[in-house]
Amino acid sequence: MSAALAETRPAVQADPSPEQIMQIGMGFWPSKTLLSAVELGLFTILADGPQTGAALEDALGLHPRATRDFLDTLVALGLLGRQGDGPEARYQNTPATALYLDRGSPRYVGGLLEMANARLYPFWADLTAALQTGKPQNEIKRNGKAMFDELYADPGRLEQFMGAMTGVSRANFEAFAEKFDFSPFASHVDIGGATGQLASIVQARNPHLASRTLDLPVVQPIAERHIKAAGLEGRVVAGEIDFFRDEFPQADLITMGMILHDWNLEHKKMLIAKAYRALPEGGAFVAIENIIDDARRENAFGLMMSLNMLIEFGEAFDFTGADFTSWCLEAGFRRCEILHLSGPCSAAIAWK
Ligand SMILES: C[S@@+](CC[C@H](N)C(=O)[O-])C[C@H]1O[C@@H](n2cnc3c(N)ncnc32)[C@H](O)[C@@H]1O
Repeated sequence: MSAALAETRPAVQADPSPEQIMQIGMGFWPSKTLLSAVELGLFTILADGPQTGAALEDALGLHPRATRDFLDTLVALGLLGRQGDGPEARYQNTPATALYLDRGSPRYVGGLLEMANARLYPFWADLTAALQTGKPQNEIKRNGKAMFDELYADPGRLEQFMGAMTGVSRANFEAFAEKFDFSPFASHVDIGGATGQLASIVQARNPHLASRTLDLPVVQPIAERHIKAAGLEGRVVAGEIDFFRDEFPQADLITMGMILHDWNLEHKKMLIAKAYRALPEGGAFVAIENIIDDARRENAFGLMMSLNMLIEFGEAFDFTGADFTSWCLEAGFRRCEILHLSGPCSAAIAWK
């Protein structure tokens, strides 16, 4: 071929790699390996120091066929360290699994993974059915009970859900407590506050606030226990509310962590209107959620959380900052802003 001909030929485009497709498509392999390790308490056992495969096989009740594949997969995934090779090798936590996956660590985030393993993983197997019917695919399919009624009827599941919320929300609440200015306010109420984590984190840094955390009656004793454990007894008051039945108490700052996304549009607007009525002029309502970017292109976690709400509740959905702003302005709020917190999570703030 002459040099002149070669120059006029269009450049040959390399085929795109299938790597991303395959990684996402087979993502359930690493996911379930990690979830089983959390379920079995592997990272908690390793908090006492490195162990051989044989010792871990005994401690976790593993079948000899499974032990090496399971542990070495976790090594290859970067979720365990291993000193040496072969039968004498000793497995150990990585700095991250020691900090976040040992149940004895104050920074434990495995609560969400425990719930993901026990509930979400099997429910997501029915995602296609949810996509085609718009109907929830959780416990409600078997017994017709609403999610919180079903979950809260069993103390073990209630505790598991509370543990999941504690793990998933801590970093977001800490970022909120760092980034938001609490000085204009004298009182704070967290609605749907679960263990009282948000009210406690905010109160610990802002002792001038009168702090309350409110949730369903069955949750109140759990919140009291956590508040006491945090050394904040008397500084954070745990109370009862049913936000469908009751008005919110008056407060200068009203927060809700991961509440609005649990409900359909009518209920979201009802909760926003209750917050508006309970605030004074100059007060603020803050929703801490995985707020989706307005163009709905980037916050994949927020978008998948919304699919998770489809699985859990059907009509419930996550939302963008623009959605939040339009609902709040409609309710009478003066202005709104979105404050990024950590990872996919932001605080959506509405000022009265
Ligand atoms: C997704 S969790 C969020 C917990 C916590 N705010 C956080 O972000 O970690 C939803 C919370 O809403 C509470 N909740 C559900 N229905 C409620 C109701 N009718 N009245 C008050 N709280 C309710 C649940 O008990 C649960 O603690």
